[in-house]
Amino acid sequence: MSRLIVVSNRVPVPDKRGTAPAGGLAVALKTALEARGGLWLGWSGRSCGEDEIGPLTSVKEGNIEYALTDLTQQDVEEYYQGFANRVLWPICHYRLDLAEYGRREMAGYFRVNRFFASRLLPMLREDDLIWVHDYHLIPLAAELRRQGVRNRIGFFLHIPWPAPDVFLTMPVHEELLKGLTEYDVIGFQTVHDRENFADCLARQGLGKRLGTTRFMVGEQAFTAKPYPIGIETDEFAGIARRASETTLHRRMLQSLDGKALIIGVDRLDYSKGITQRIDAFETFLTRHPDSQRHVTLLQITPKSRSEVPEYEAMQRTVAEQAGRVNGALGTVDWVPIRYVNRSLRRPALAGLYRMAKLAMVTPLRDGMNLVAKEYVAAQNEEDPGVLLLSRFAGAAQELKEAVLVNPYDVEGTAEAIARGLAMPLEERRQRWQGMMATLRENDVFAWCRAFLDDLSGTARTTAPSAAPP
Ligand code: G6P
Repeated sequence: MSRLIVVSNRVPVPDKRGTAPAGGLAVALKTALEARGGLWLGWSGRSCGEDEIGPLTSVKEGNIEYALTDLTQQDVEEYYQGFANRVLWPICHYRLDLAEYGRREMAGYFRVNRFFASRLLPMLREDDLIWVHDYHLIPLAAELRRQGVRNRIGFFLHIPWPAPDVFLTMPVHEELLKGLTEYDVIGFQTVHDRENFADCLARQGLGKRLGTTRFMVGEQAFTAKPYPIGIETDEFAGIARRASETTLHRRMLQSLDGKALIIGVDRLDYSKGITQRIDAFETFLTRHPDSQRHVTLLQITPKSRSEVPEYEAMQRTVAEQAGRVNGALGTVDWVPIRYVNRSLRRPALAGLYRMAKLAMVTPLRDGMNLVAKEYVAAQNEEDPGVLLLSRFAGAAQELKEAVLVNPYDVEGTAEAIARGLAMPLEERRQRWQGMMATLRENDVFAWCRAFLDDLSGTARTTAPSAAPP
């Protein structure tokens, strides 16, 4: 079996406090890679002066060998905080209004991709499989090819790919699109994302489509396919079952004192629809006054990308909003919203999911959303809770039995909360069984296998006749 090299900006090496970074990519990929083993190259999370960049730091954890690189302060500002998180992230989440284009940041993005290529090159062996992850590193394959690398290189995009009218507003769209065509396999979360990508190619007159999943640009053929990412379903279900015996679980149950728990778990990000969710919860409480004092929303929201101005502003907005609702509706012995800005360890989270009668997973736009999947896996099959899921999350393409909501429709979402809390046991069980079967069939290991099977079976071809079906 070829050695696998994974490259991503964020790498899940635990920090000094033992907590790994929040975000679907780190959690899912670590689980998948632990099983197969391999080398994982990424950013150390540290920045320094240019002359202080040293050799890669190597950390071994079980089957995974991490190779971590520092970046300069300028790199972090231009590539990570700048182009990746102020252009690509908002554009891919349909927030044209938040995109801040700057030539300096664009140049920094391509420069850091070149830098990642230069760090990878000395480690590379001829038959290594390279798997690159997410929007930070789109041009990496093009950089490697320029240096003569002929290995198979795959790319998986964890976030949505937008429609051409949105994508083409980006000044460097052509270079990014062409950069993607240098991969052998490009993975998306959903068919919808792949079709948006195909529409972008068609709109730009780039190459031609050979079949549902095969494309040809210039002399090169490549595969573009959906691979919906999963979780370690059975393992997570086990963690949730065991969590109900912990002290935290008992303390939480005691503090709820019989009230129904609604849960929301998201990084503090404008794509997650947190303010609309709080509005919907407030509307629900106002329209259903009988529920007041009997329901609590626990919103767990670790801070994220705080150096990026839009995120910093959001910290204030959400804290004020939660405070306002609590002030307006709360009583001396009931707080409607418990708002927590820290990330919890997985067992604690799993236990809370299991305790919650309802989860609100209501992003305005999301590549997949693994919180939705973890919530389902954590449920007690005898008495499962209800998943309220945004139709704009990739997970909605798979979890058809969830209560699907439009998060922009605050009143509609408020009514869905009421319906969810009153849902009869039989219906809850039926919906849960359907979702759980999907999660068992397509867990994170199946996702990883499907992608790597395609990558190892796909030769970089120059003739369409050599393409697999
Ligand atoms: C999303 C992205 C990941 C990213 C994560 C956390 O899940 O798809 O690439 O790692 O958010 O964001 P951060 O900027 O902290 O890495």
